[in-house]
Amino acid sequence: MMVLGLESSCDETAAAVVEMGEETRTIRSNVVASQIDVHRLYGGVVPEIASRAHIEAIGGVTRQALREAGVTVGQLDAVAVTACPGLIGALLVGVNFAKSLAWANRLPLVAVNHIHAHVAAACLCEPGLRPPFAALVVSGGHTCFYRVTSWTDFAELGGTRDDAAGEAFDKVDRVIGLPYPSGAAMDRLAAQGNPGAVALPSPALAGDTPDLSFSGLKTAALNYLNGVAQRGETVNRADLAASYTRQITDALTRKAALVLEQTGLRTLVLAGGVAANSHLRAALGEMCRAQGCRLCLPTPALCGDNGAMVAAAGYFRAERGLFAGPALNASAGETLPDAPAQAGGWPTGIA
Ligand code: KG4
Ligand code: ZN
Repeated sequence: MMVLGLESSCDETAAAVVEMGEETRTIRSNVVASQIDVHRLYGGVVPEIASRAHIEAIGGVTRQALREAGVTVGQLDAVAVTACPGLIGALLVGVNFAKSLAWANRLPLVAVNHIHAHVAAACLCEPGLRPPFAALVVSGGHTCFYRVTSWTDFAELGGTRDDAAGEAFDKVDRVIGLPYPSGAAMDRLAAQGNPGAVALPSPALAGDTPDLSFSGLKTAALNYLNGVAQRGETVNRADLAASYTRQITDALTRKAALVLEQTGLRTLVLAGGVAANSHLRAALGEMCRAQGCRLCLPTPALCGDNGAMVAAAGYFRAERGLFAGPALNASAGETLPDAPAQAGGWPTGIA
């Protein structure tokens, strides 16, 4: 099945063509147009600007994805689009574009949950991967553990009670002078510092819960920086980055071990933008090796927002006949809007 995947939930406009089948997972193209340069000026994503930039980019990005894949619209079997969660104005651009493209070409339409799509990225790197498994999604907006019983059935086990791990990384950029979003820069800086240099609190909540809270860690880092400034000292940015990263990776690794133990699952899938973090990948790798569990790490290019993951998740829904109809809307929340396909497919004329 040749699936076009479209993504516009936050600040990347992305389109990809992926060929999926029982044993086939072939990325034919994966085009991502990032808006980071536009939003950097404001130190975060500005929703209105994001929506406008998606409108400008989505047609060209889709054409490029089809061209690079060597596929015409007529050769597609389905159009998959992220319909939730995310910035509502940004999501609406992708959803309406996908609906129009599908309607005009009488193609089946599939609505995809962005979080499930991040997890589906793992199947593109490890074609033999099959549920059940545990998944940890760590992105700019989410930090959550799931029990994945099928590619379309996710049960939330716990996660952050406040900020997401990506947000925690990004918030420190302003104070230590790293460019937004700071995740990748923090990753490199942390490798040069001493992770035991600065005492910071763990985001892991006490007890047998997979839950975490990143707000205390963020405040402690800011207080530390203010204290250093008040004493007229210079901060060792690498030491702070290393200590901050250590707390985040340690907490996520500890909670991941707990989830594997509590669920009895033997495979862990790491997903989302923060899954590109080299320290987190190494710490989870060590823990899974020690526990005799399998760890699936998507390549860094498939960790951030992209269209290939949406196409893969779309295929799994299409396989189950979970198509969307012309009433499909976008939703900022976690649940896919209910808009089943009409019997007989698309309406045949415009009223
Ligand atoms: O999944 P994603 O592309 O977008 C959302 O769905 O949120 O994740 C973006 C997040 C940003 O917060 C960015 O700082 C973070 O992923 N990120 C990283 C790294 N690369 C990207 N965080 C830590 N280490 C990295 N290497
Ligand atoms: Zn994402």
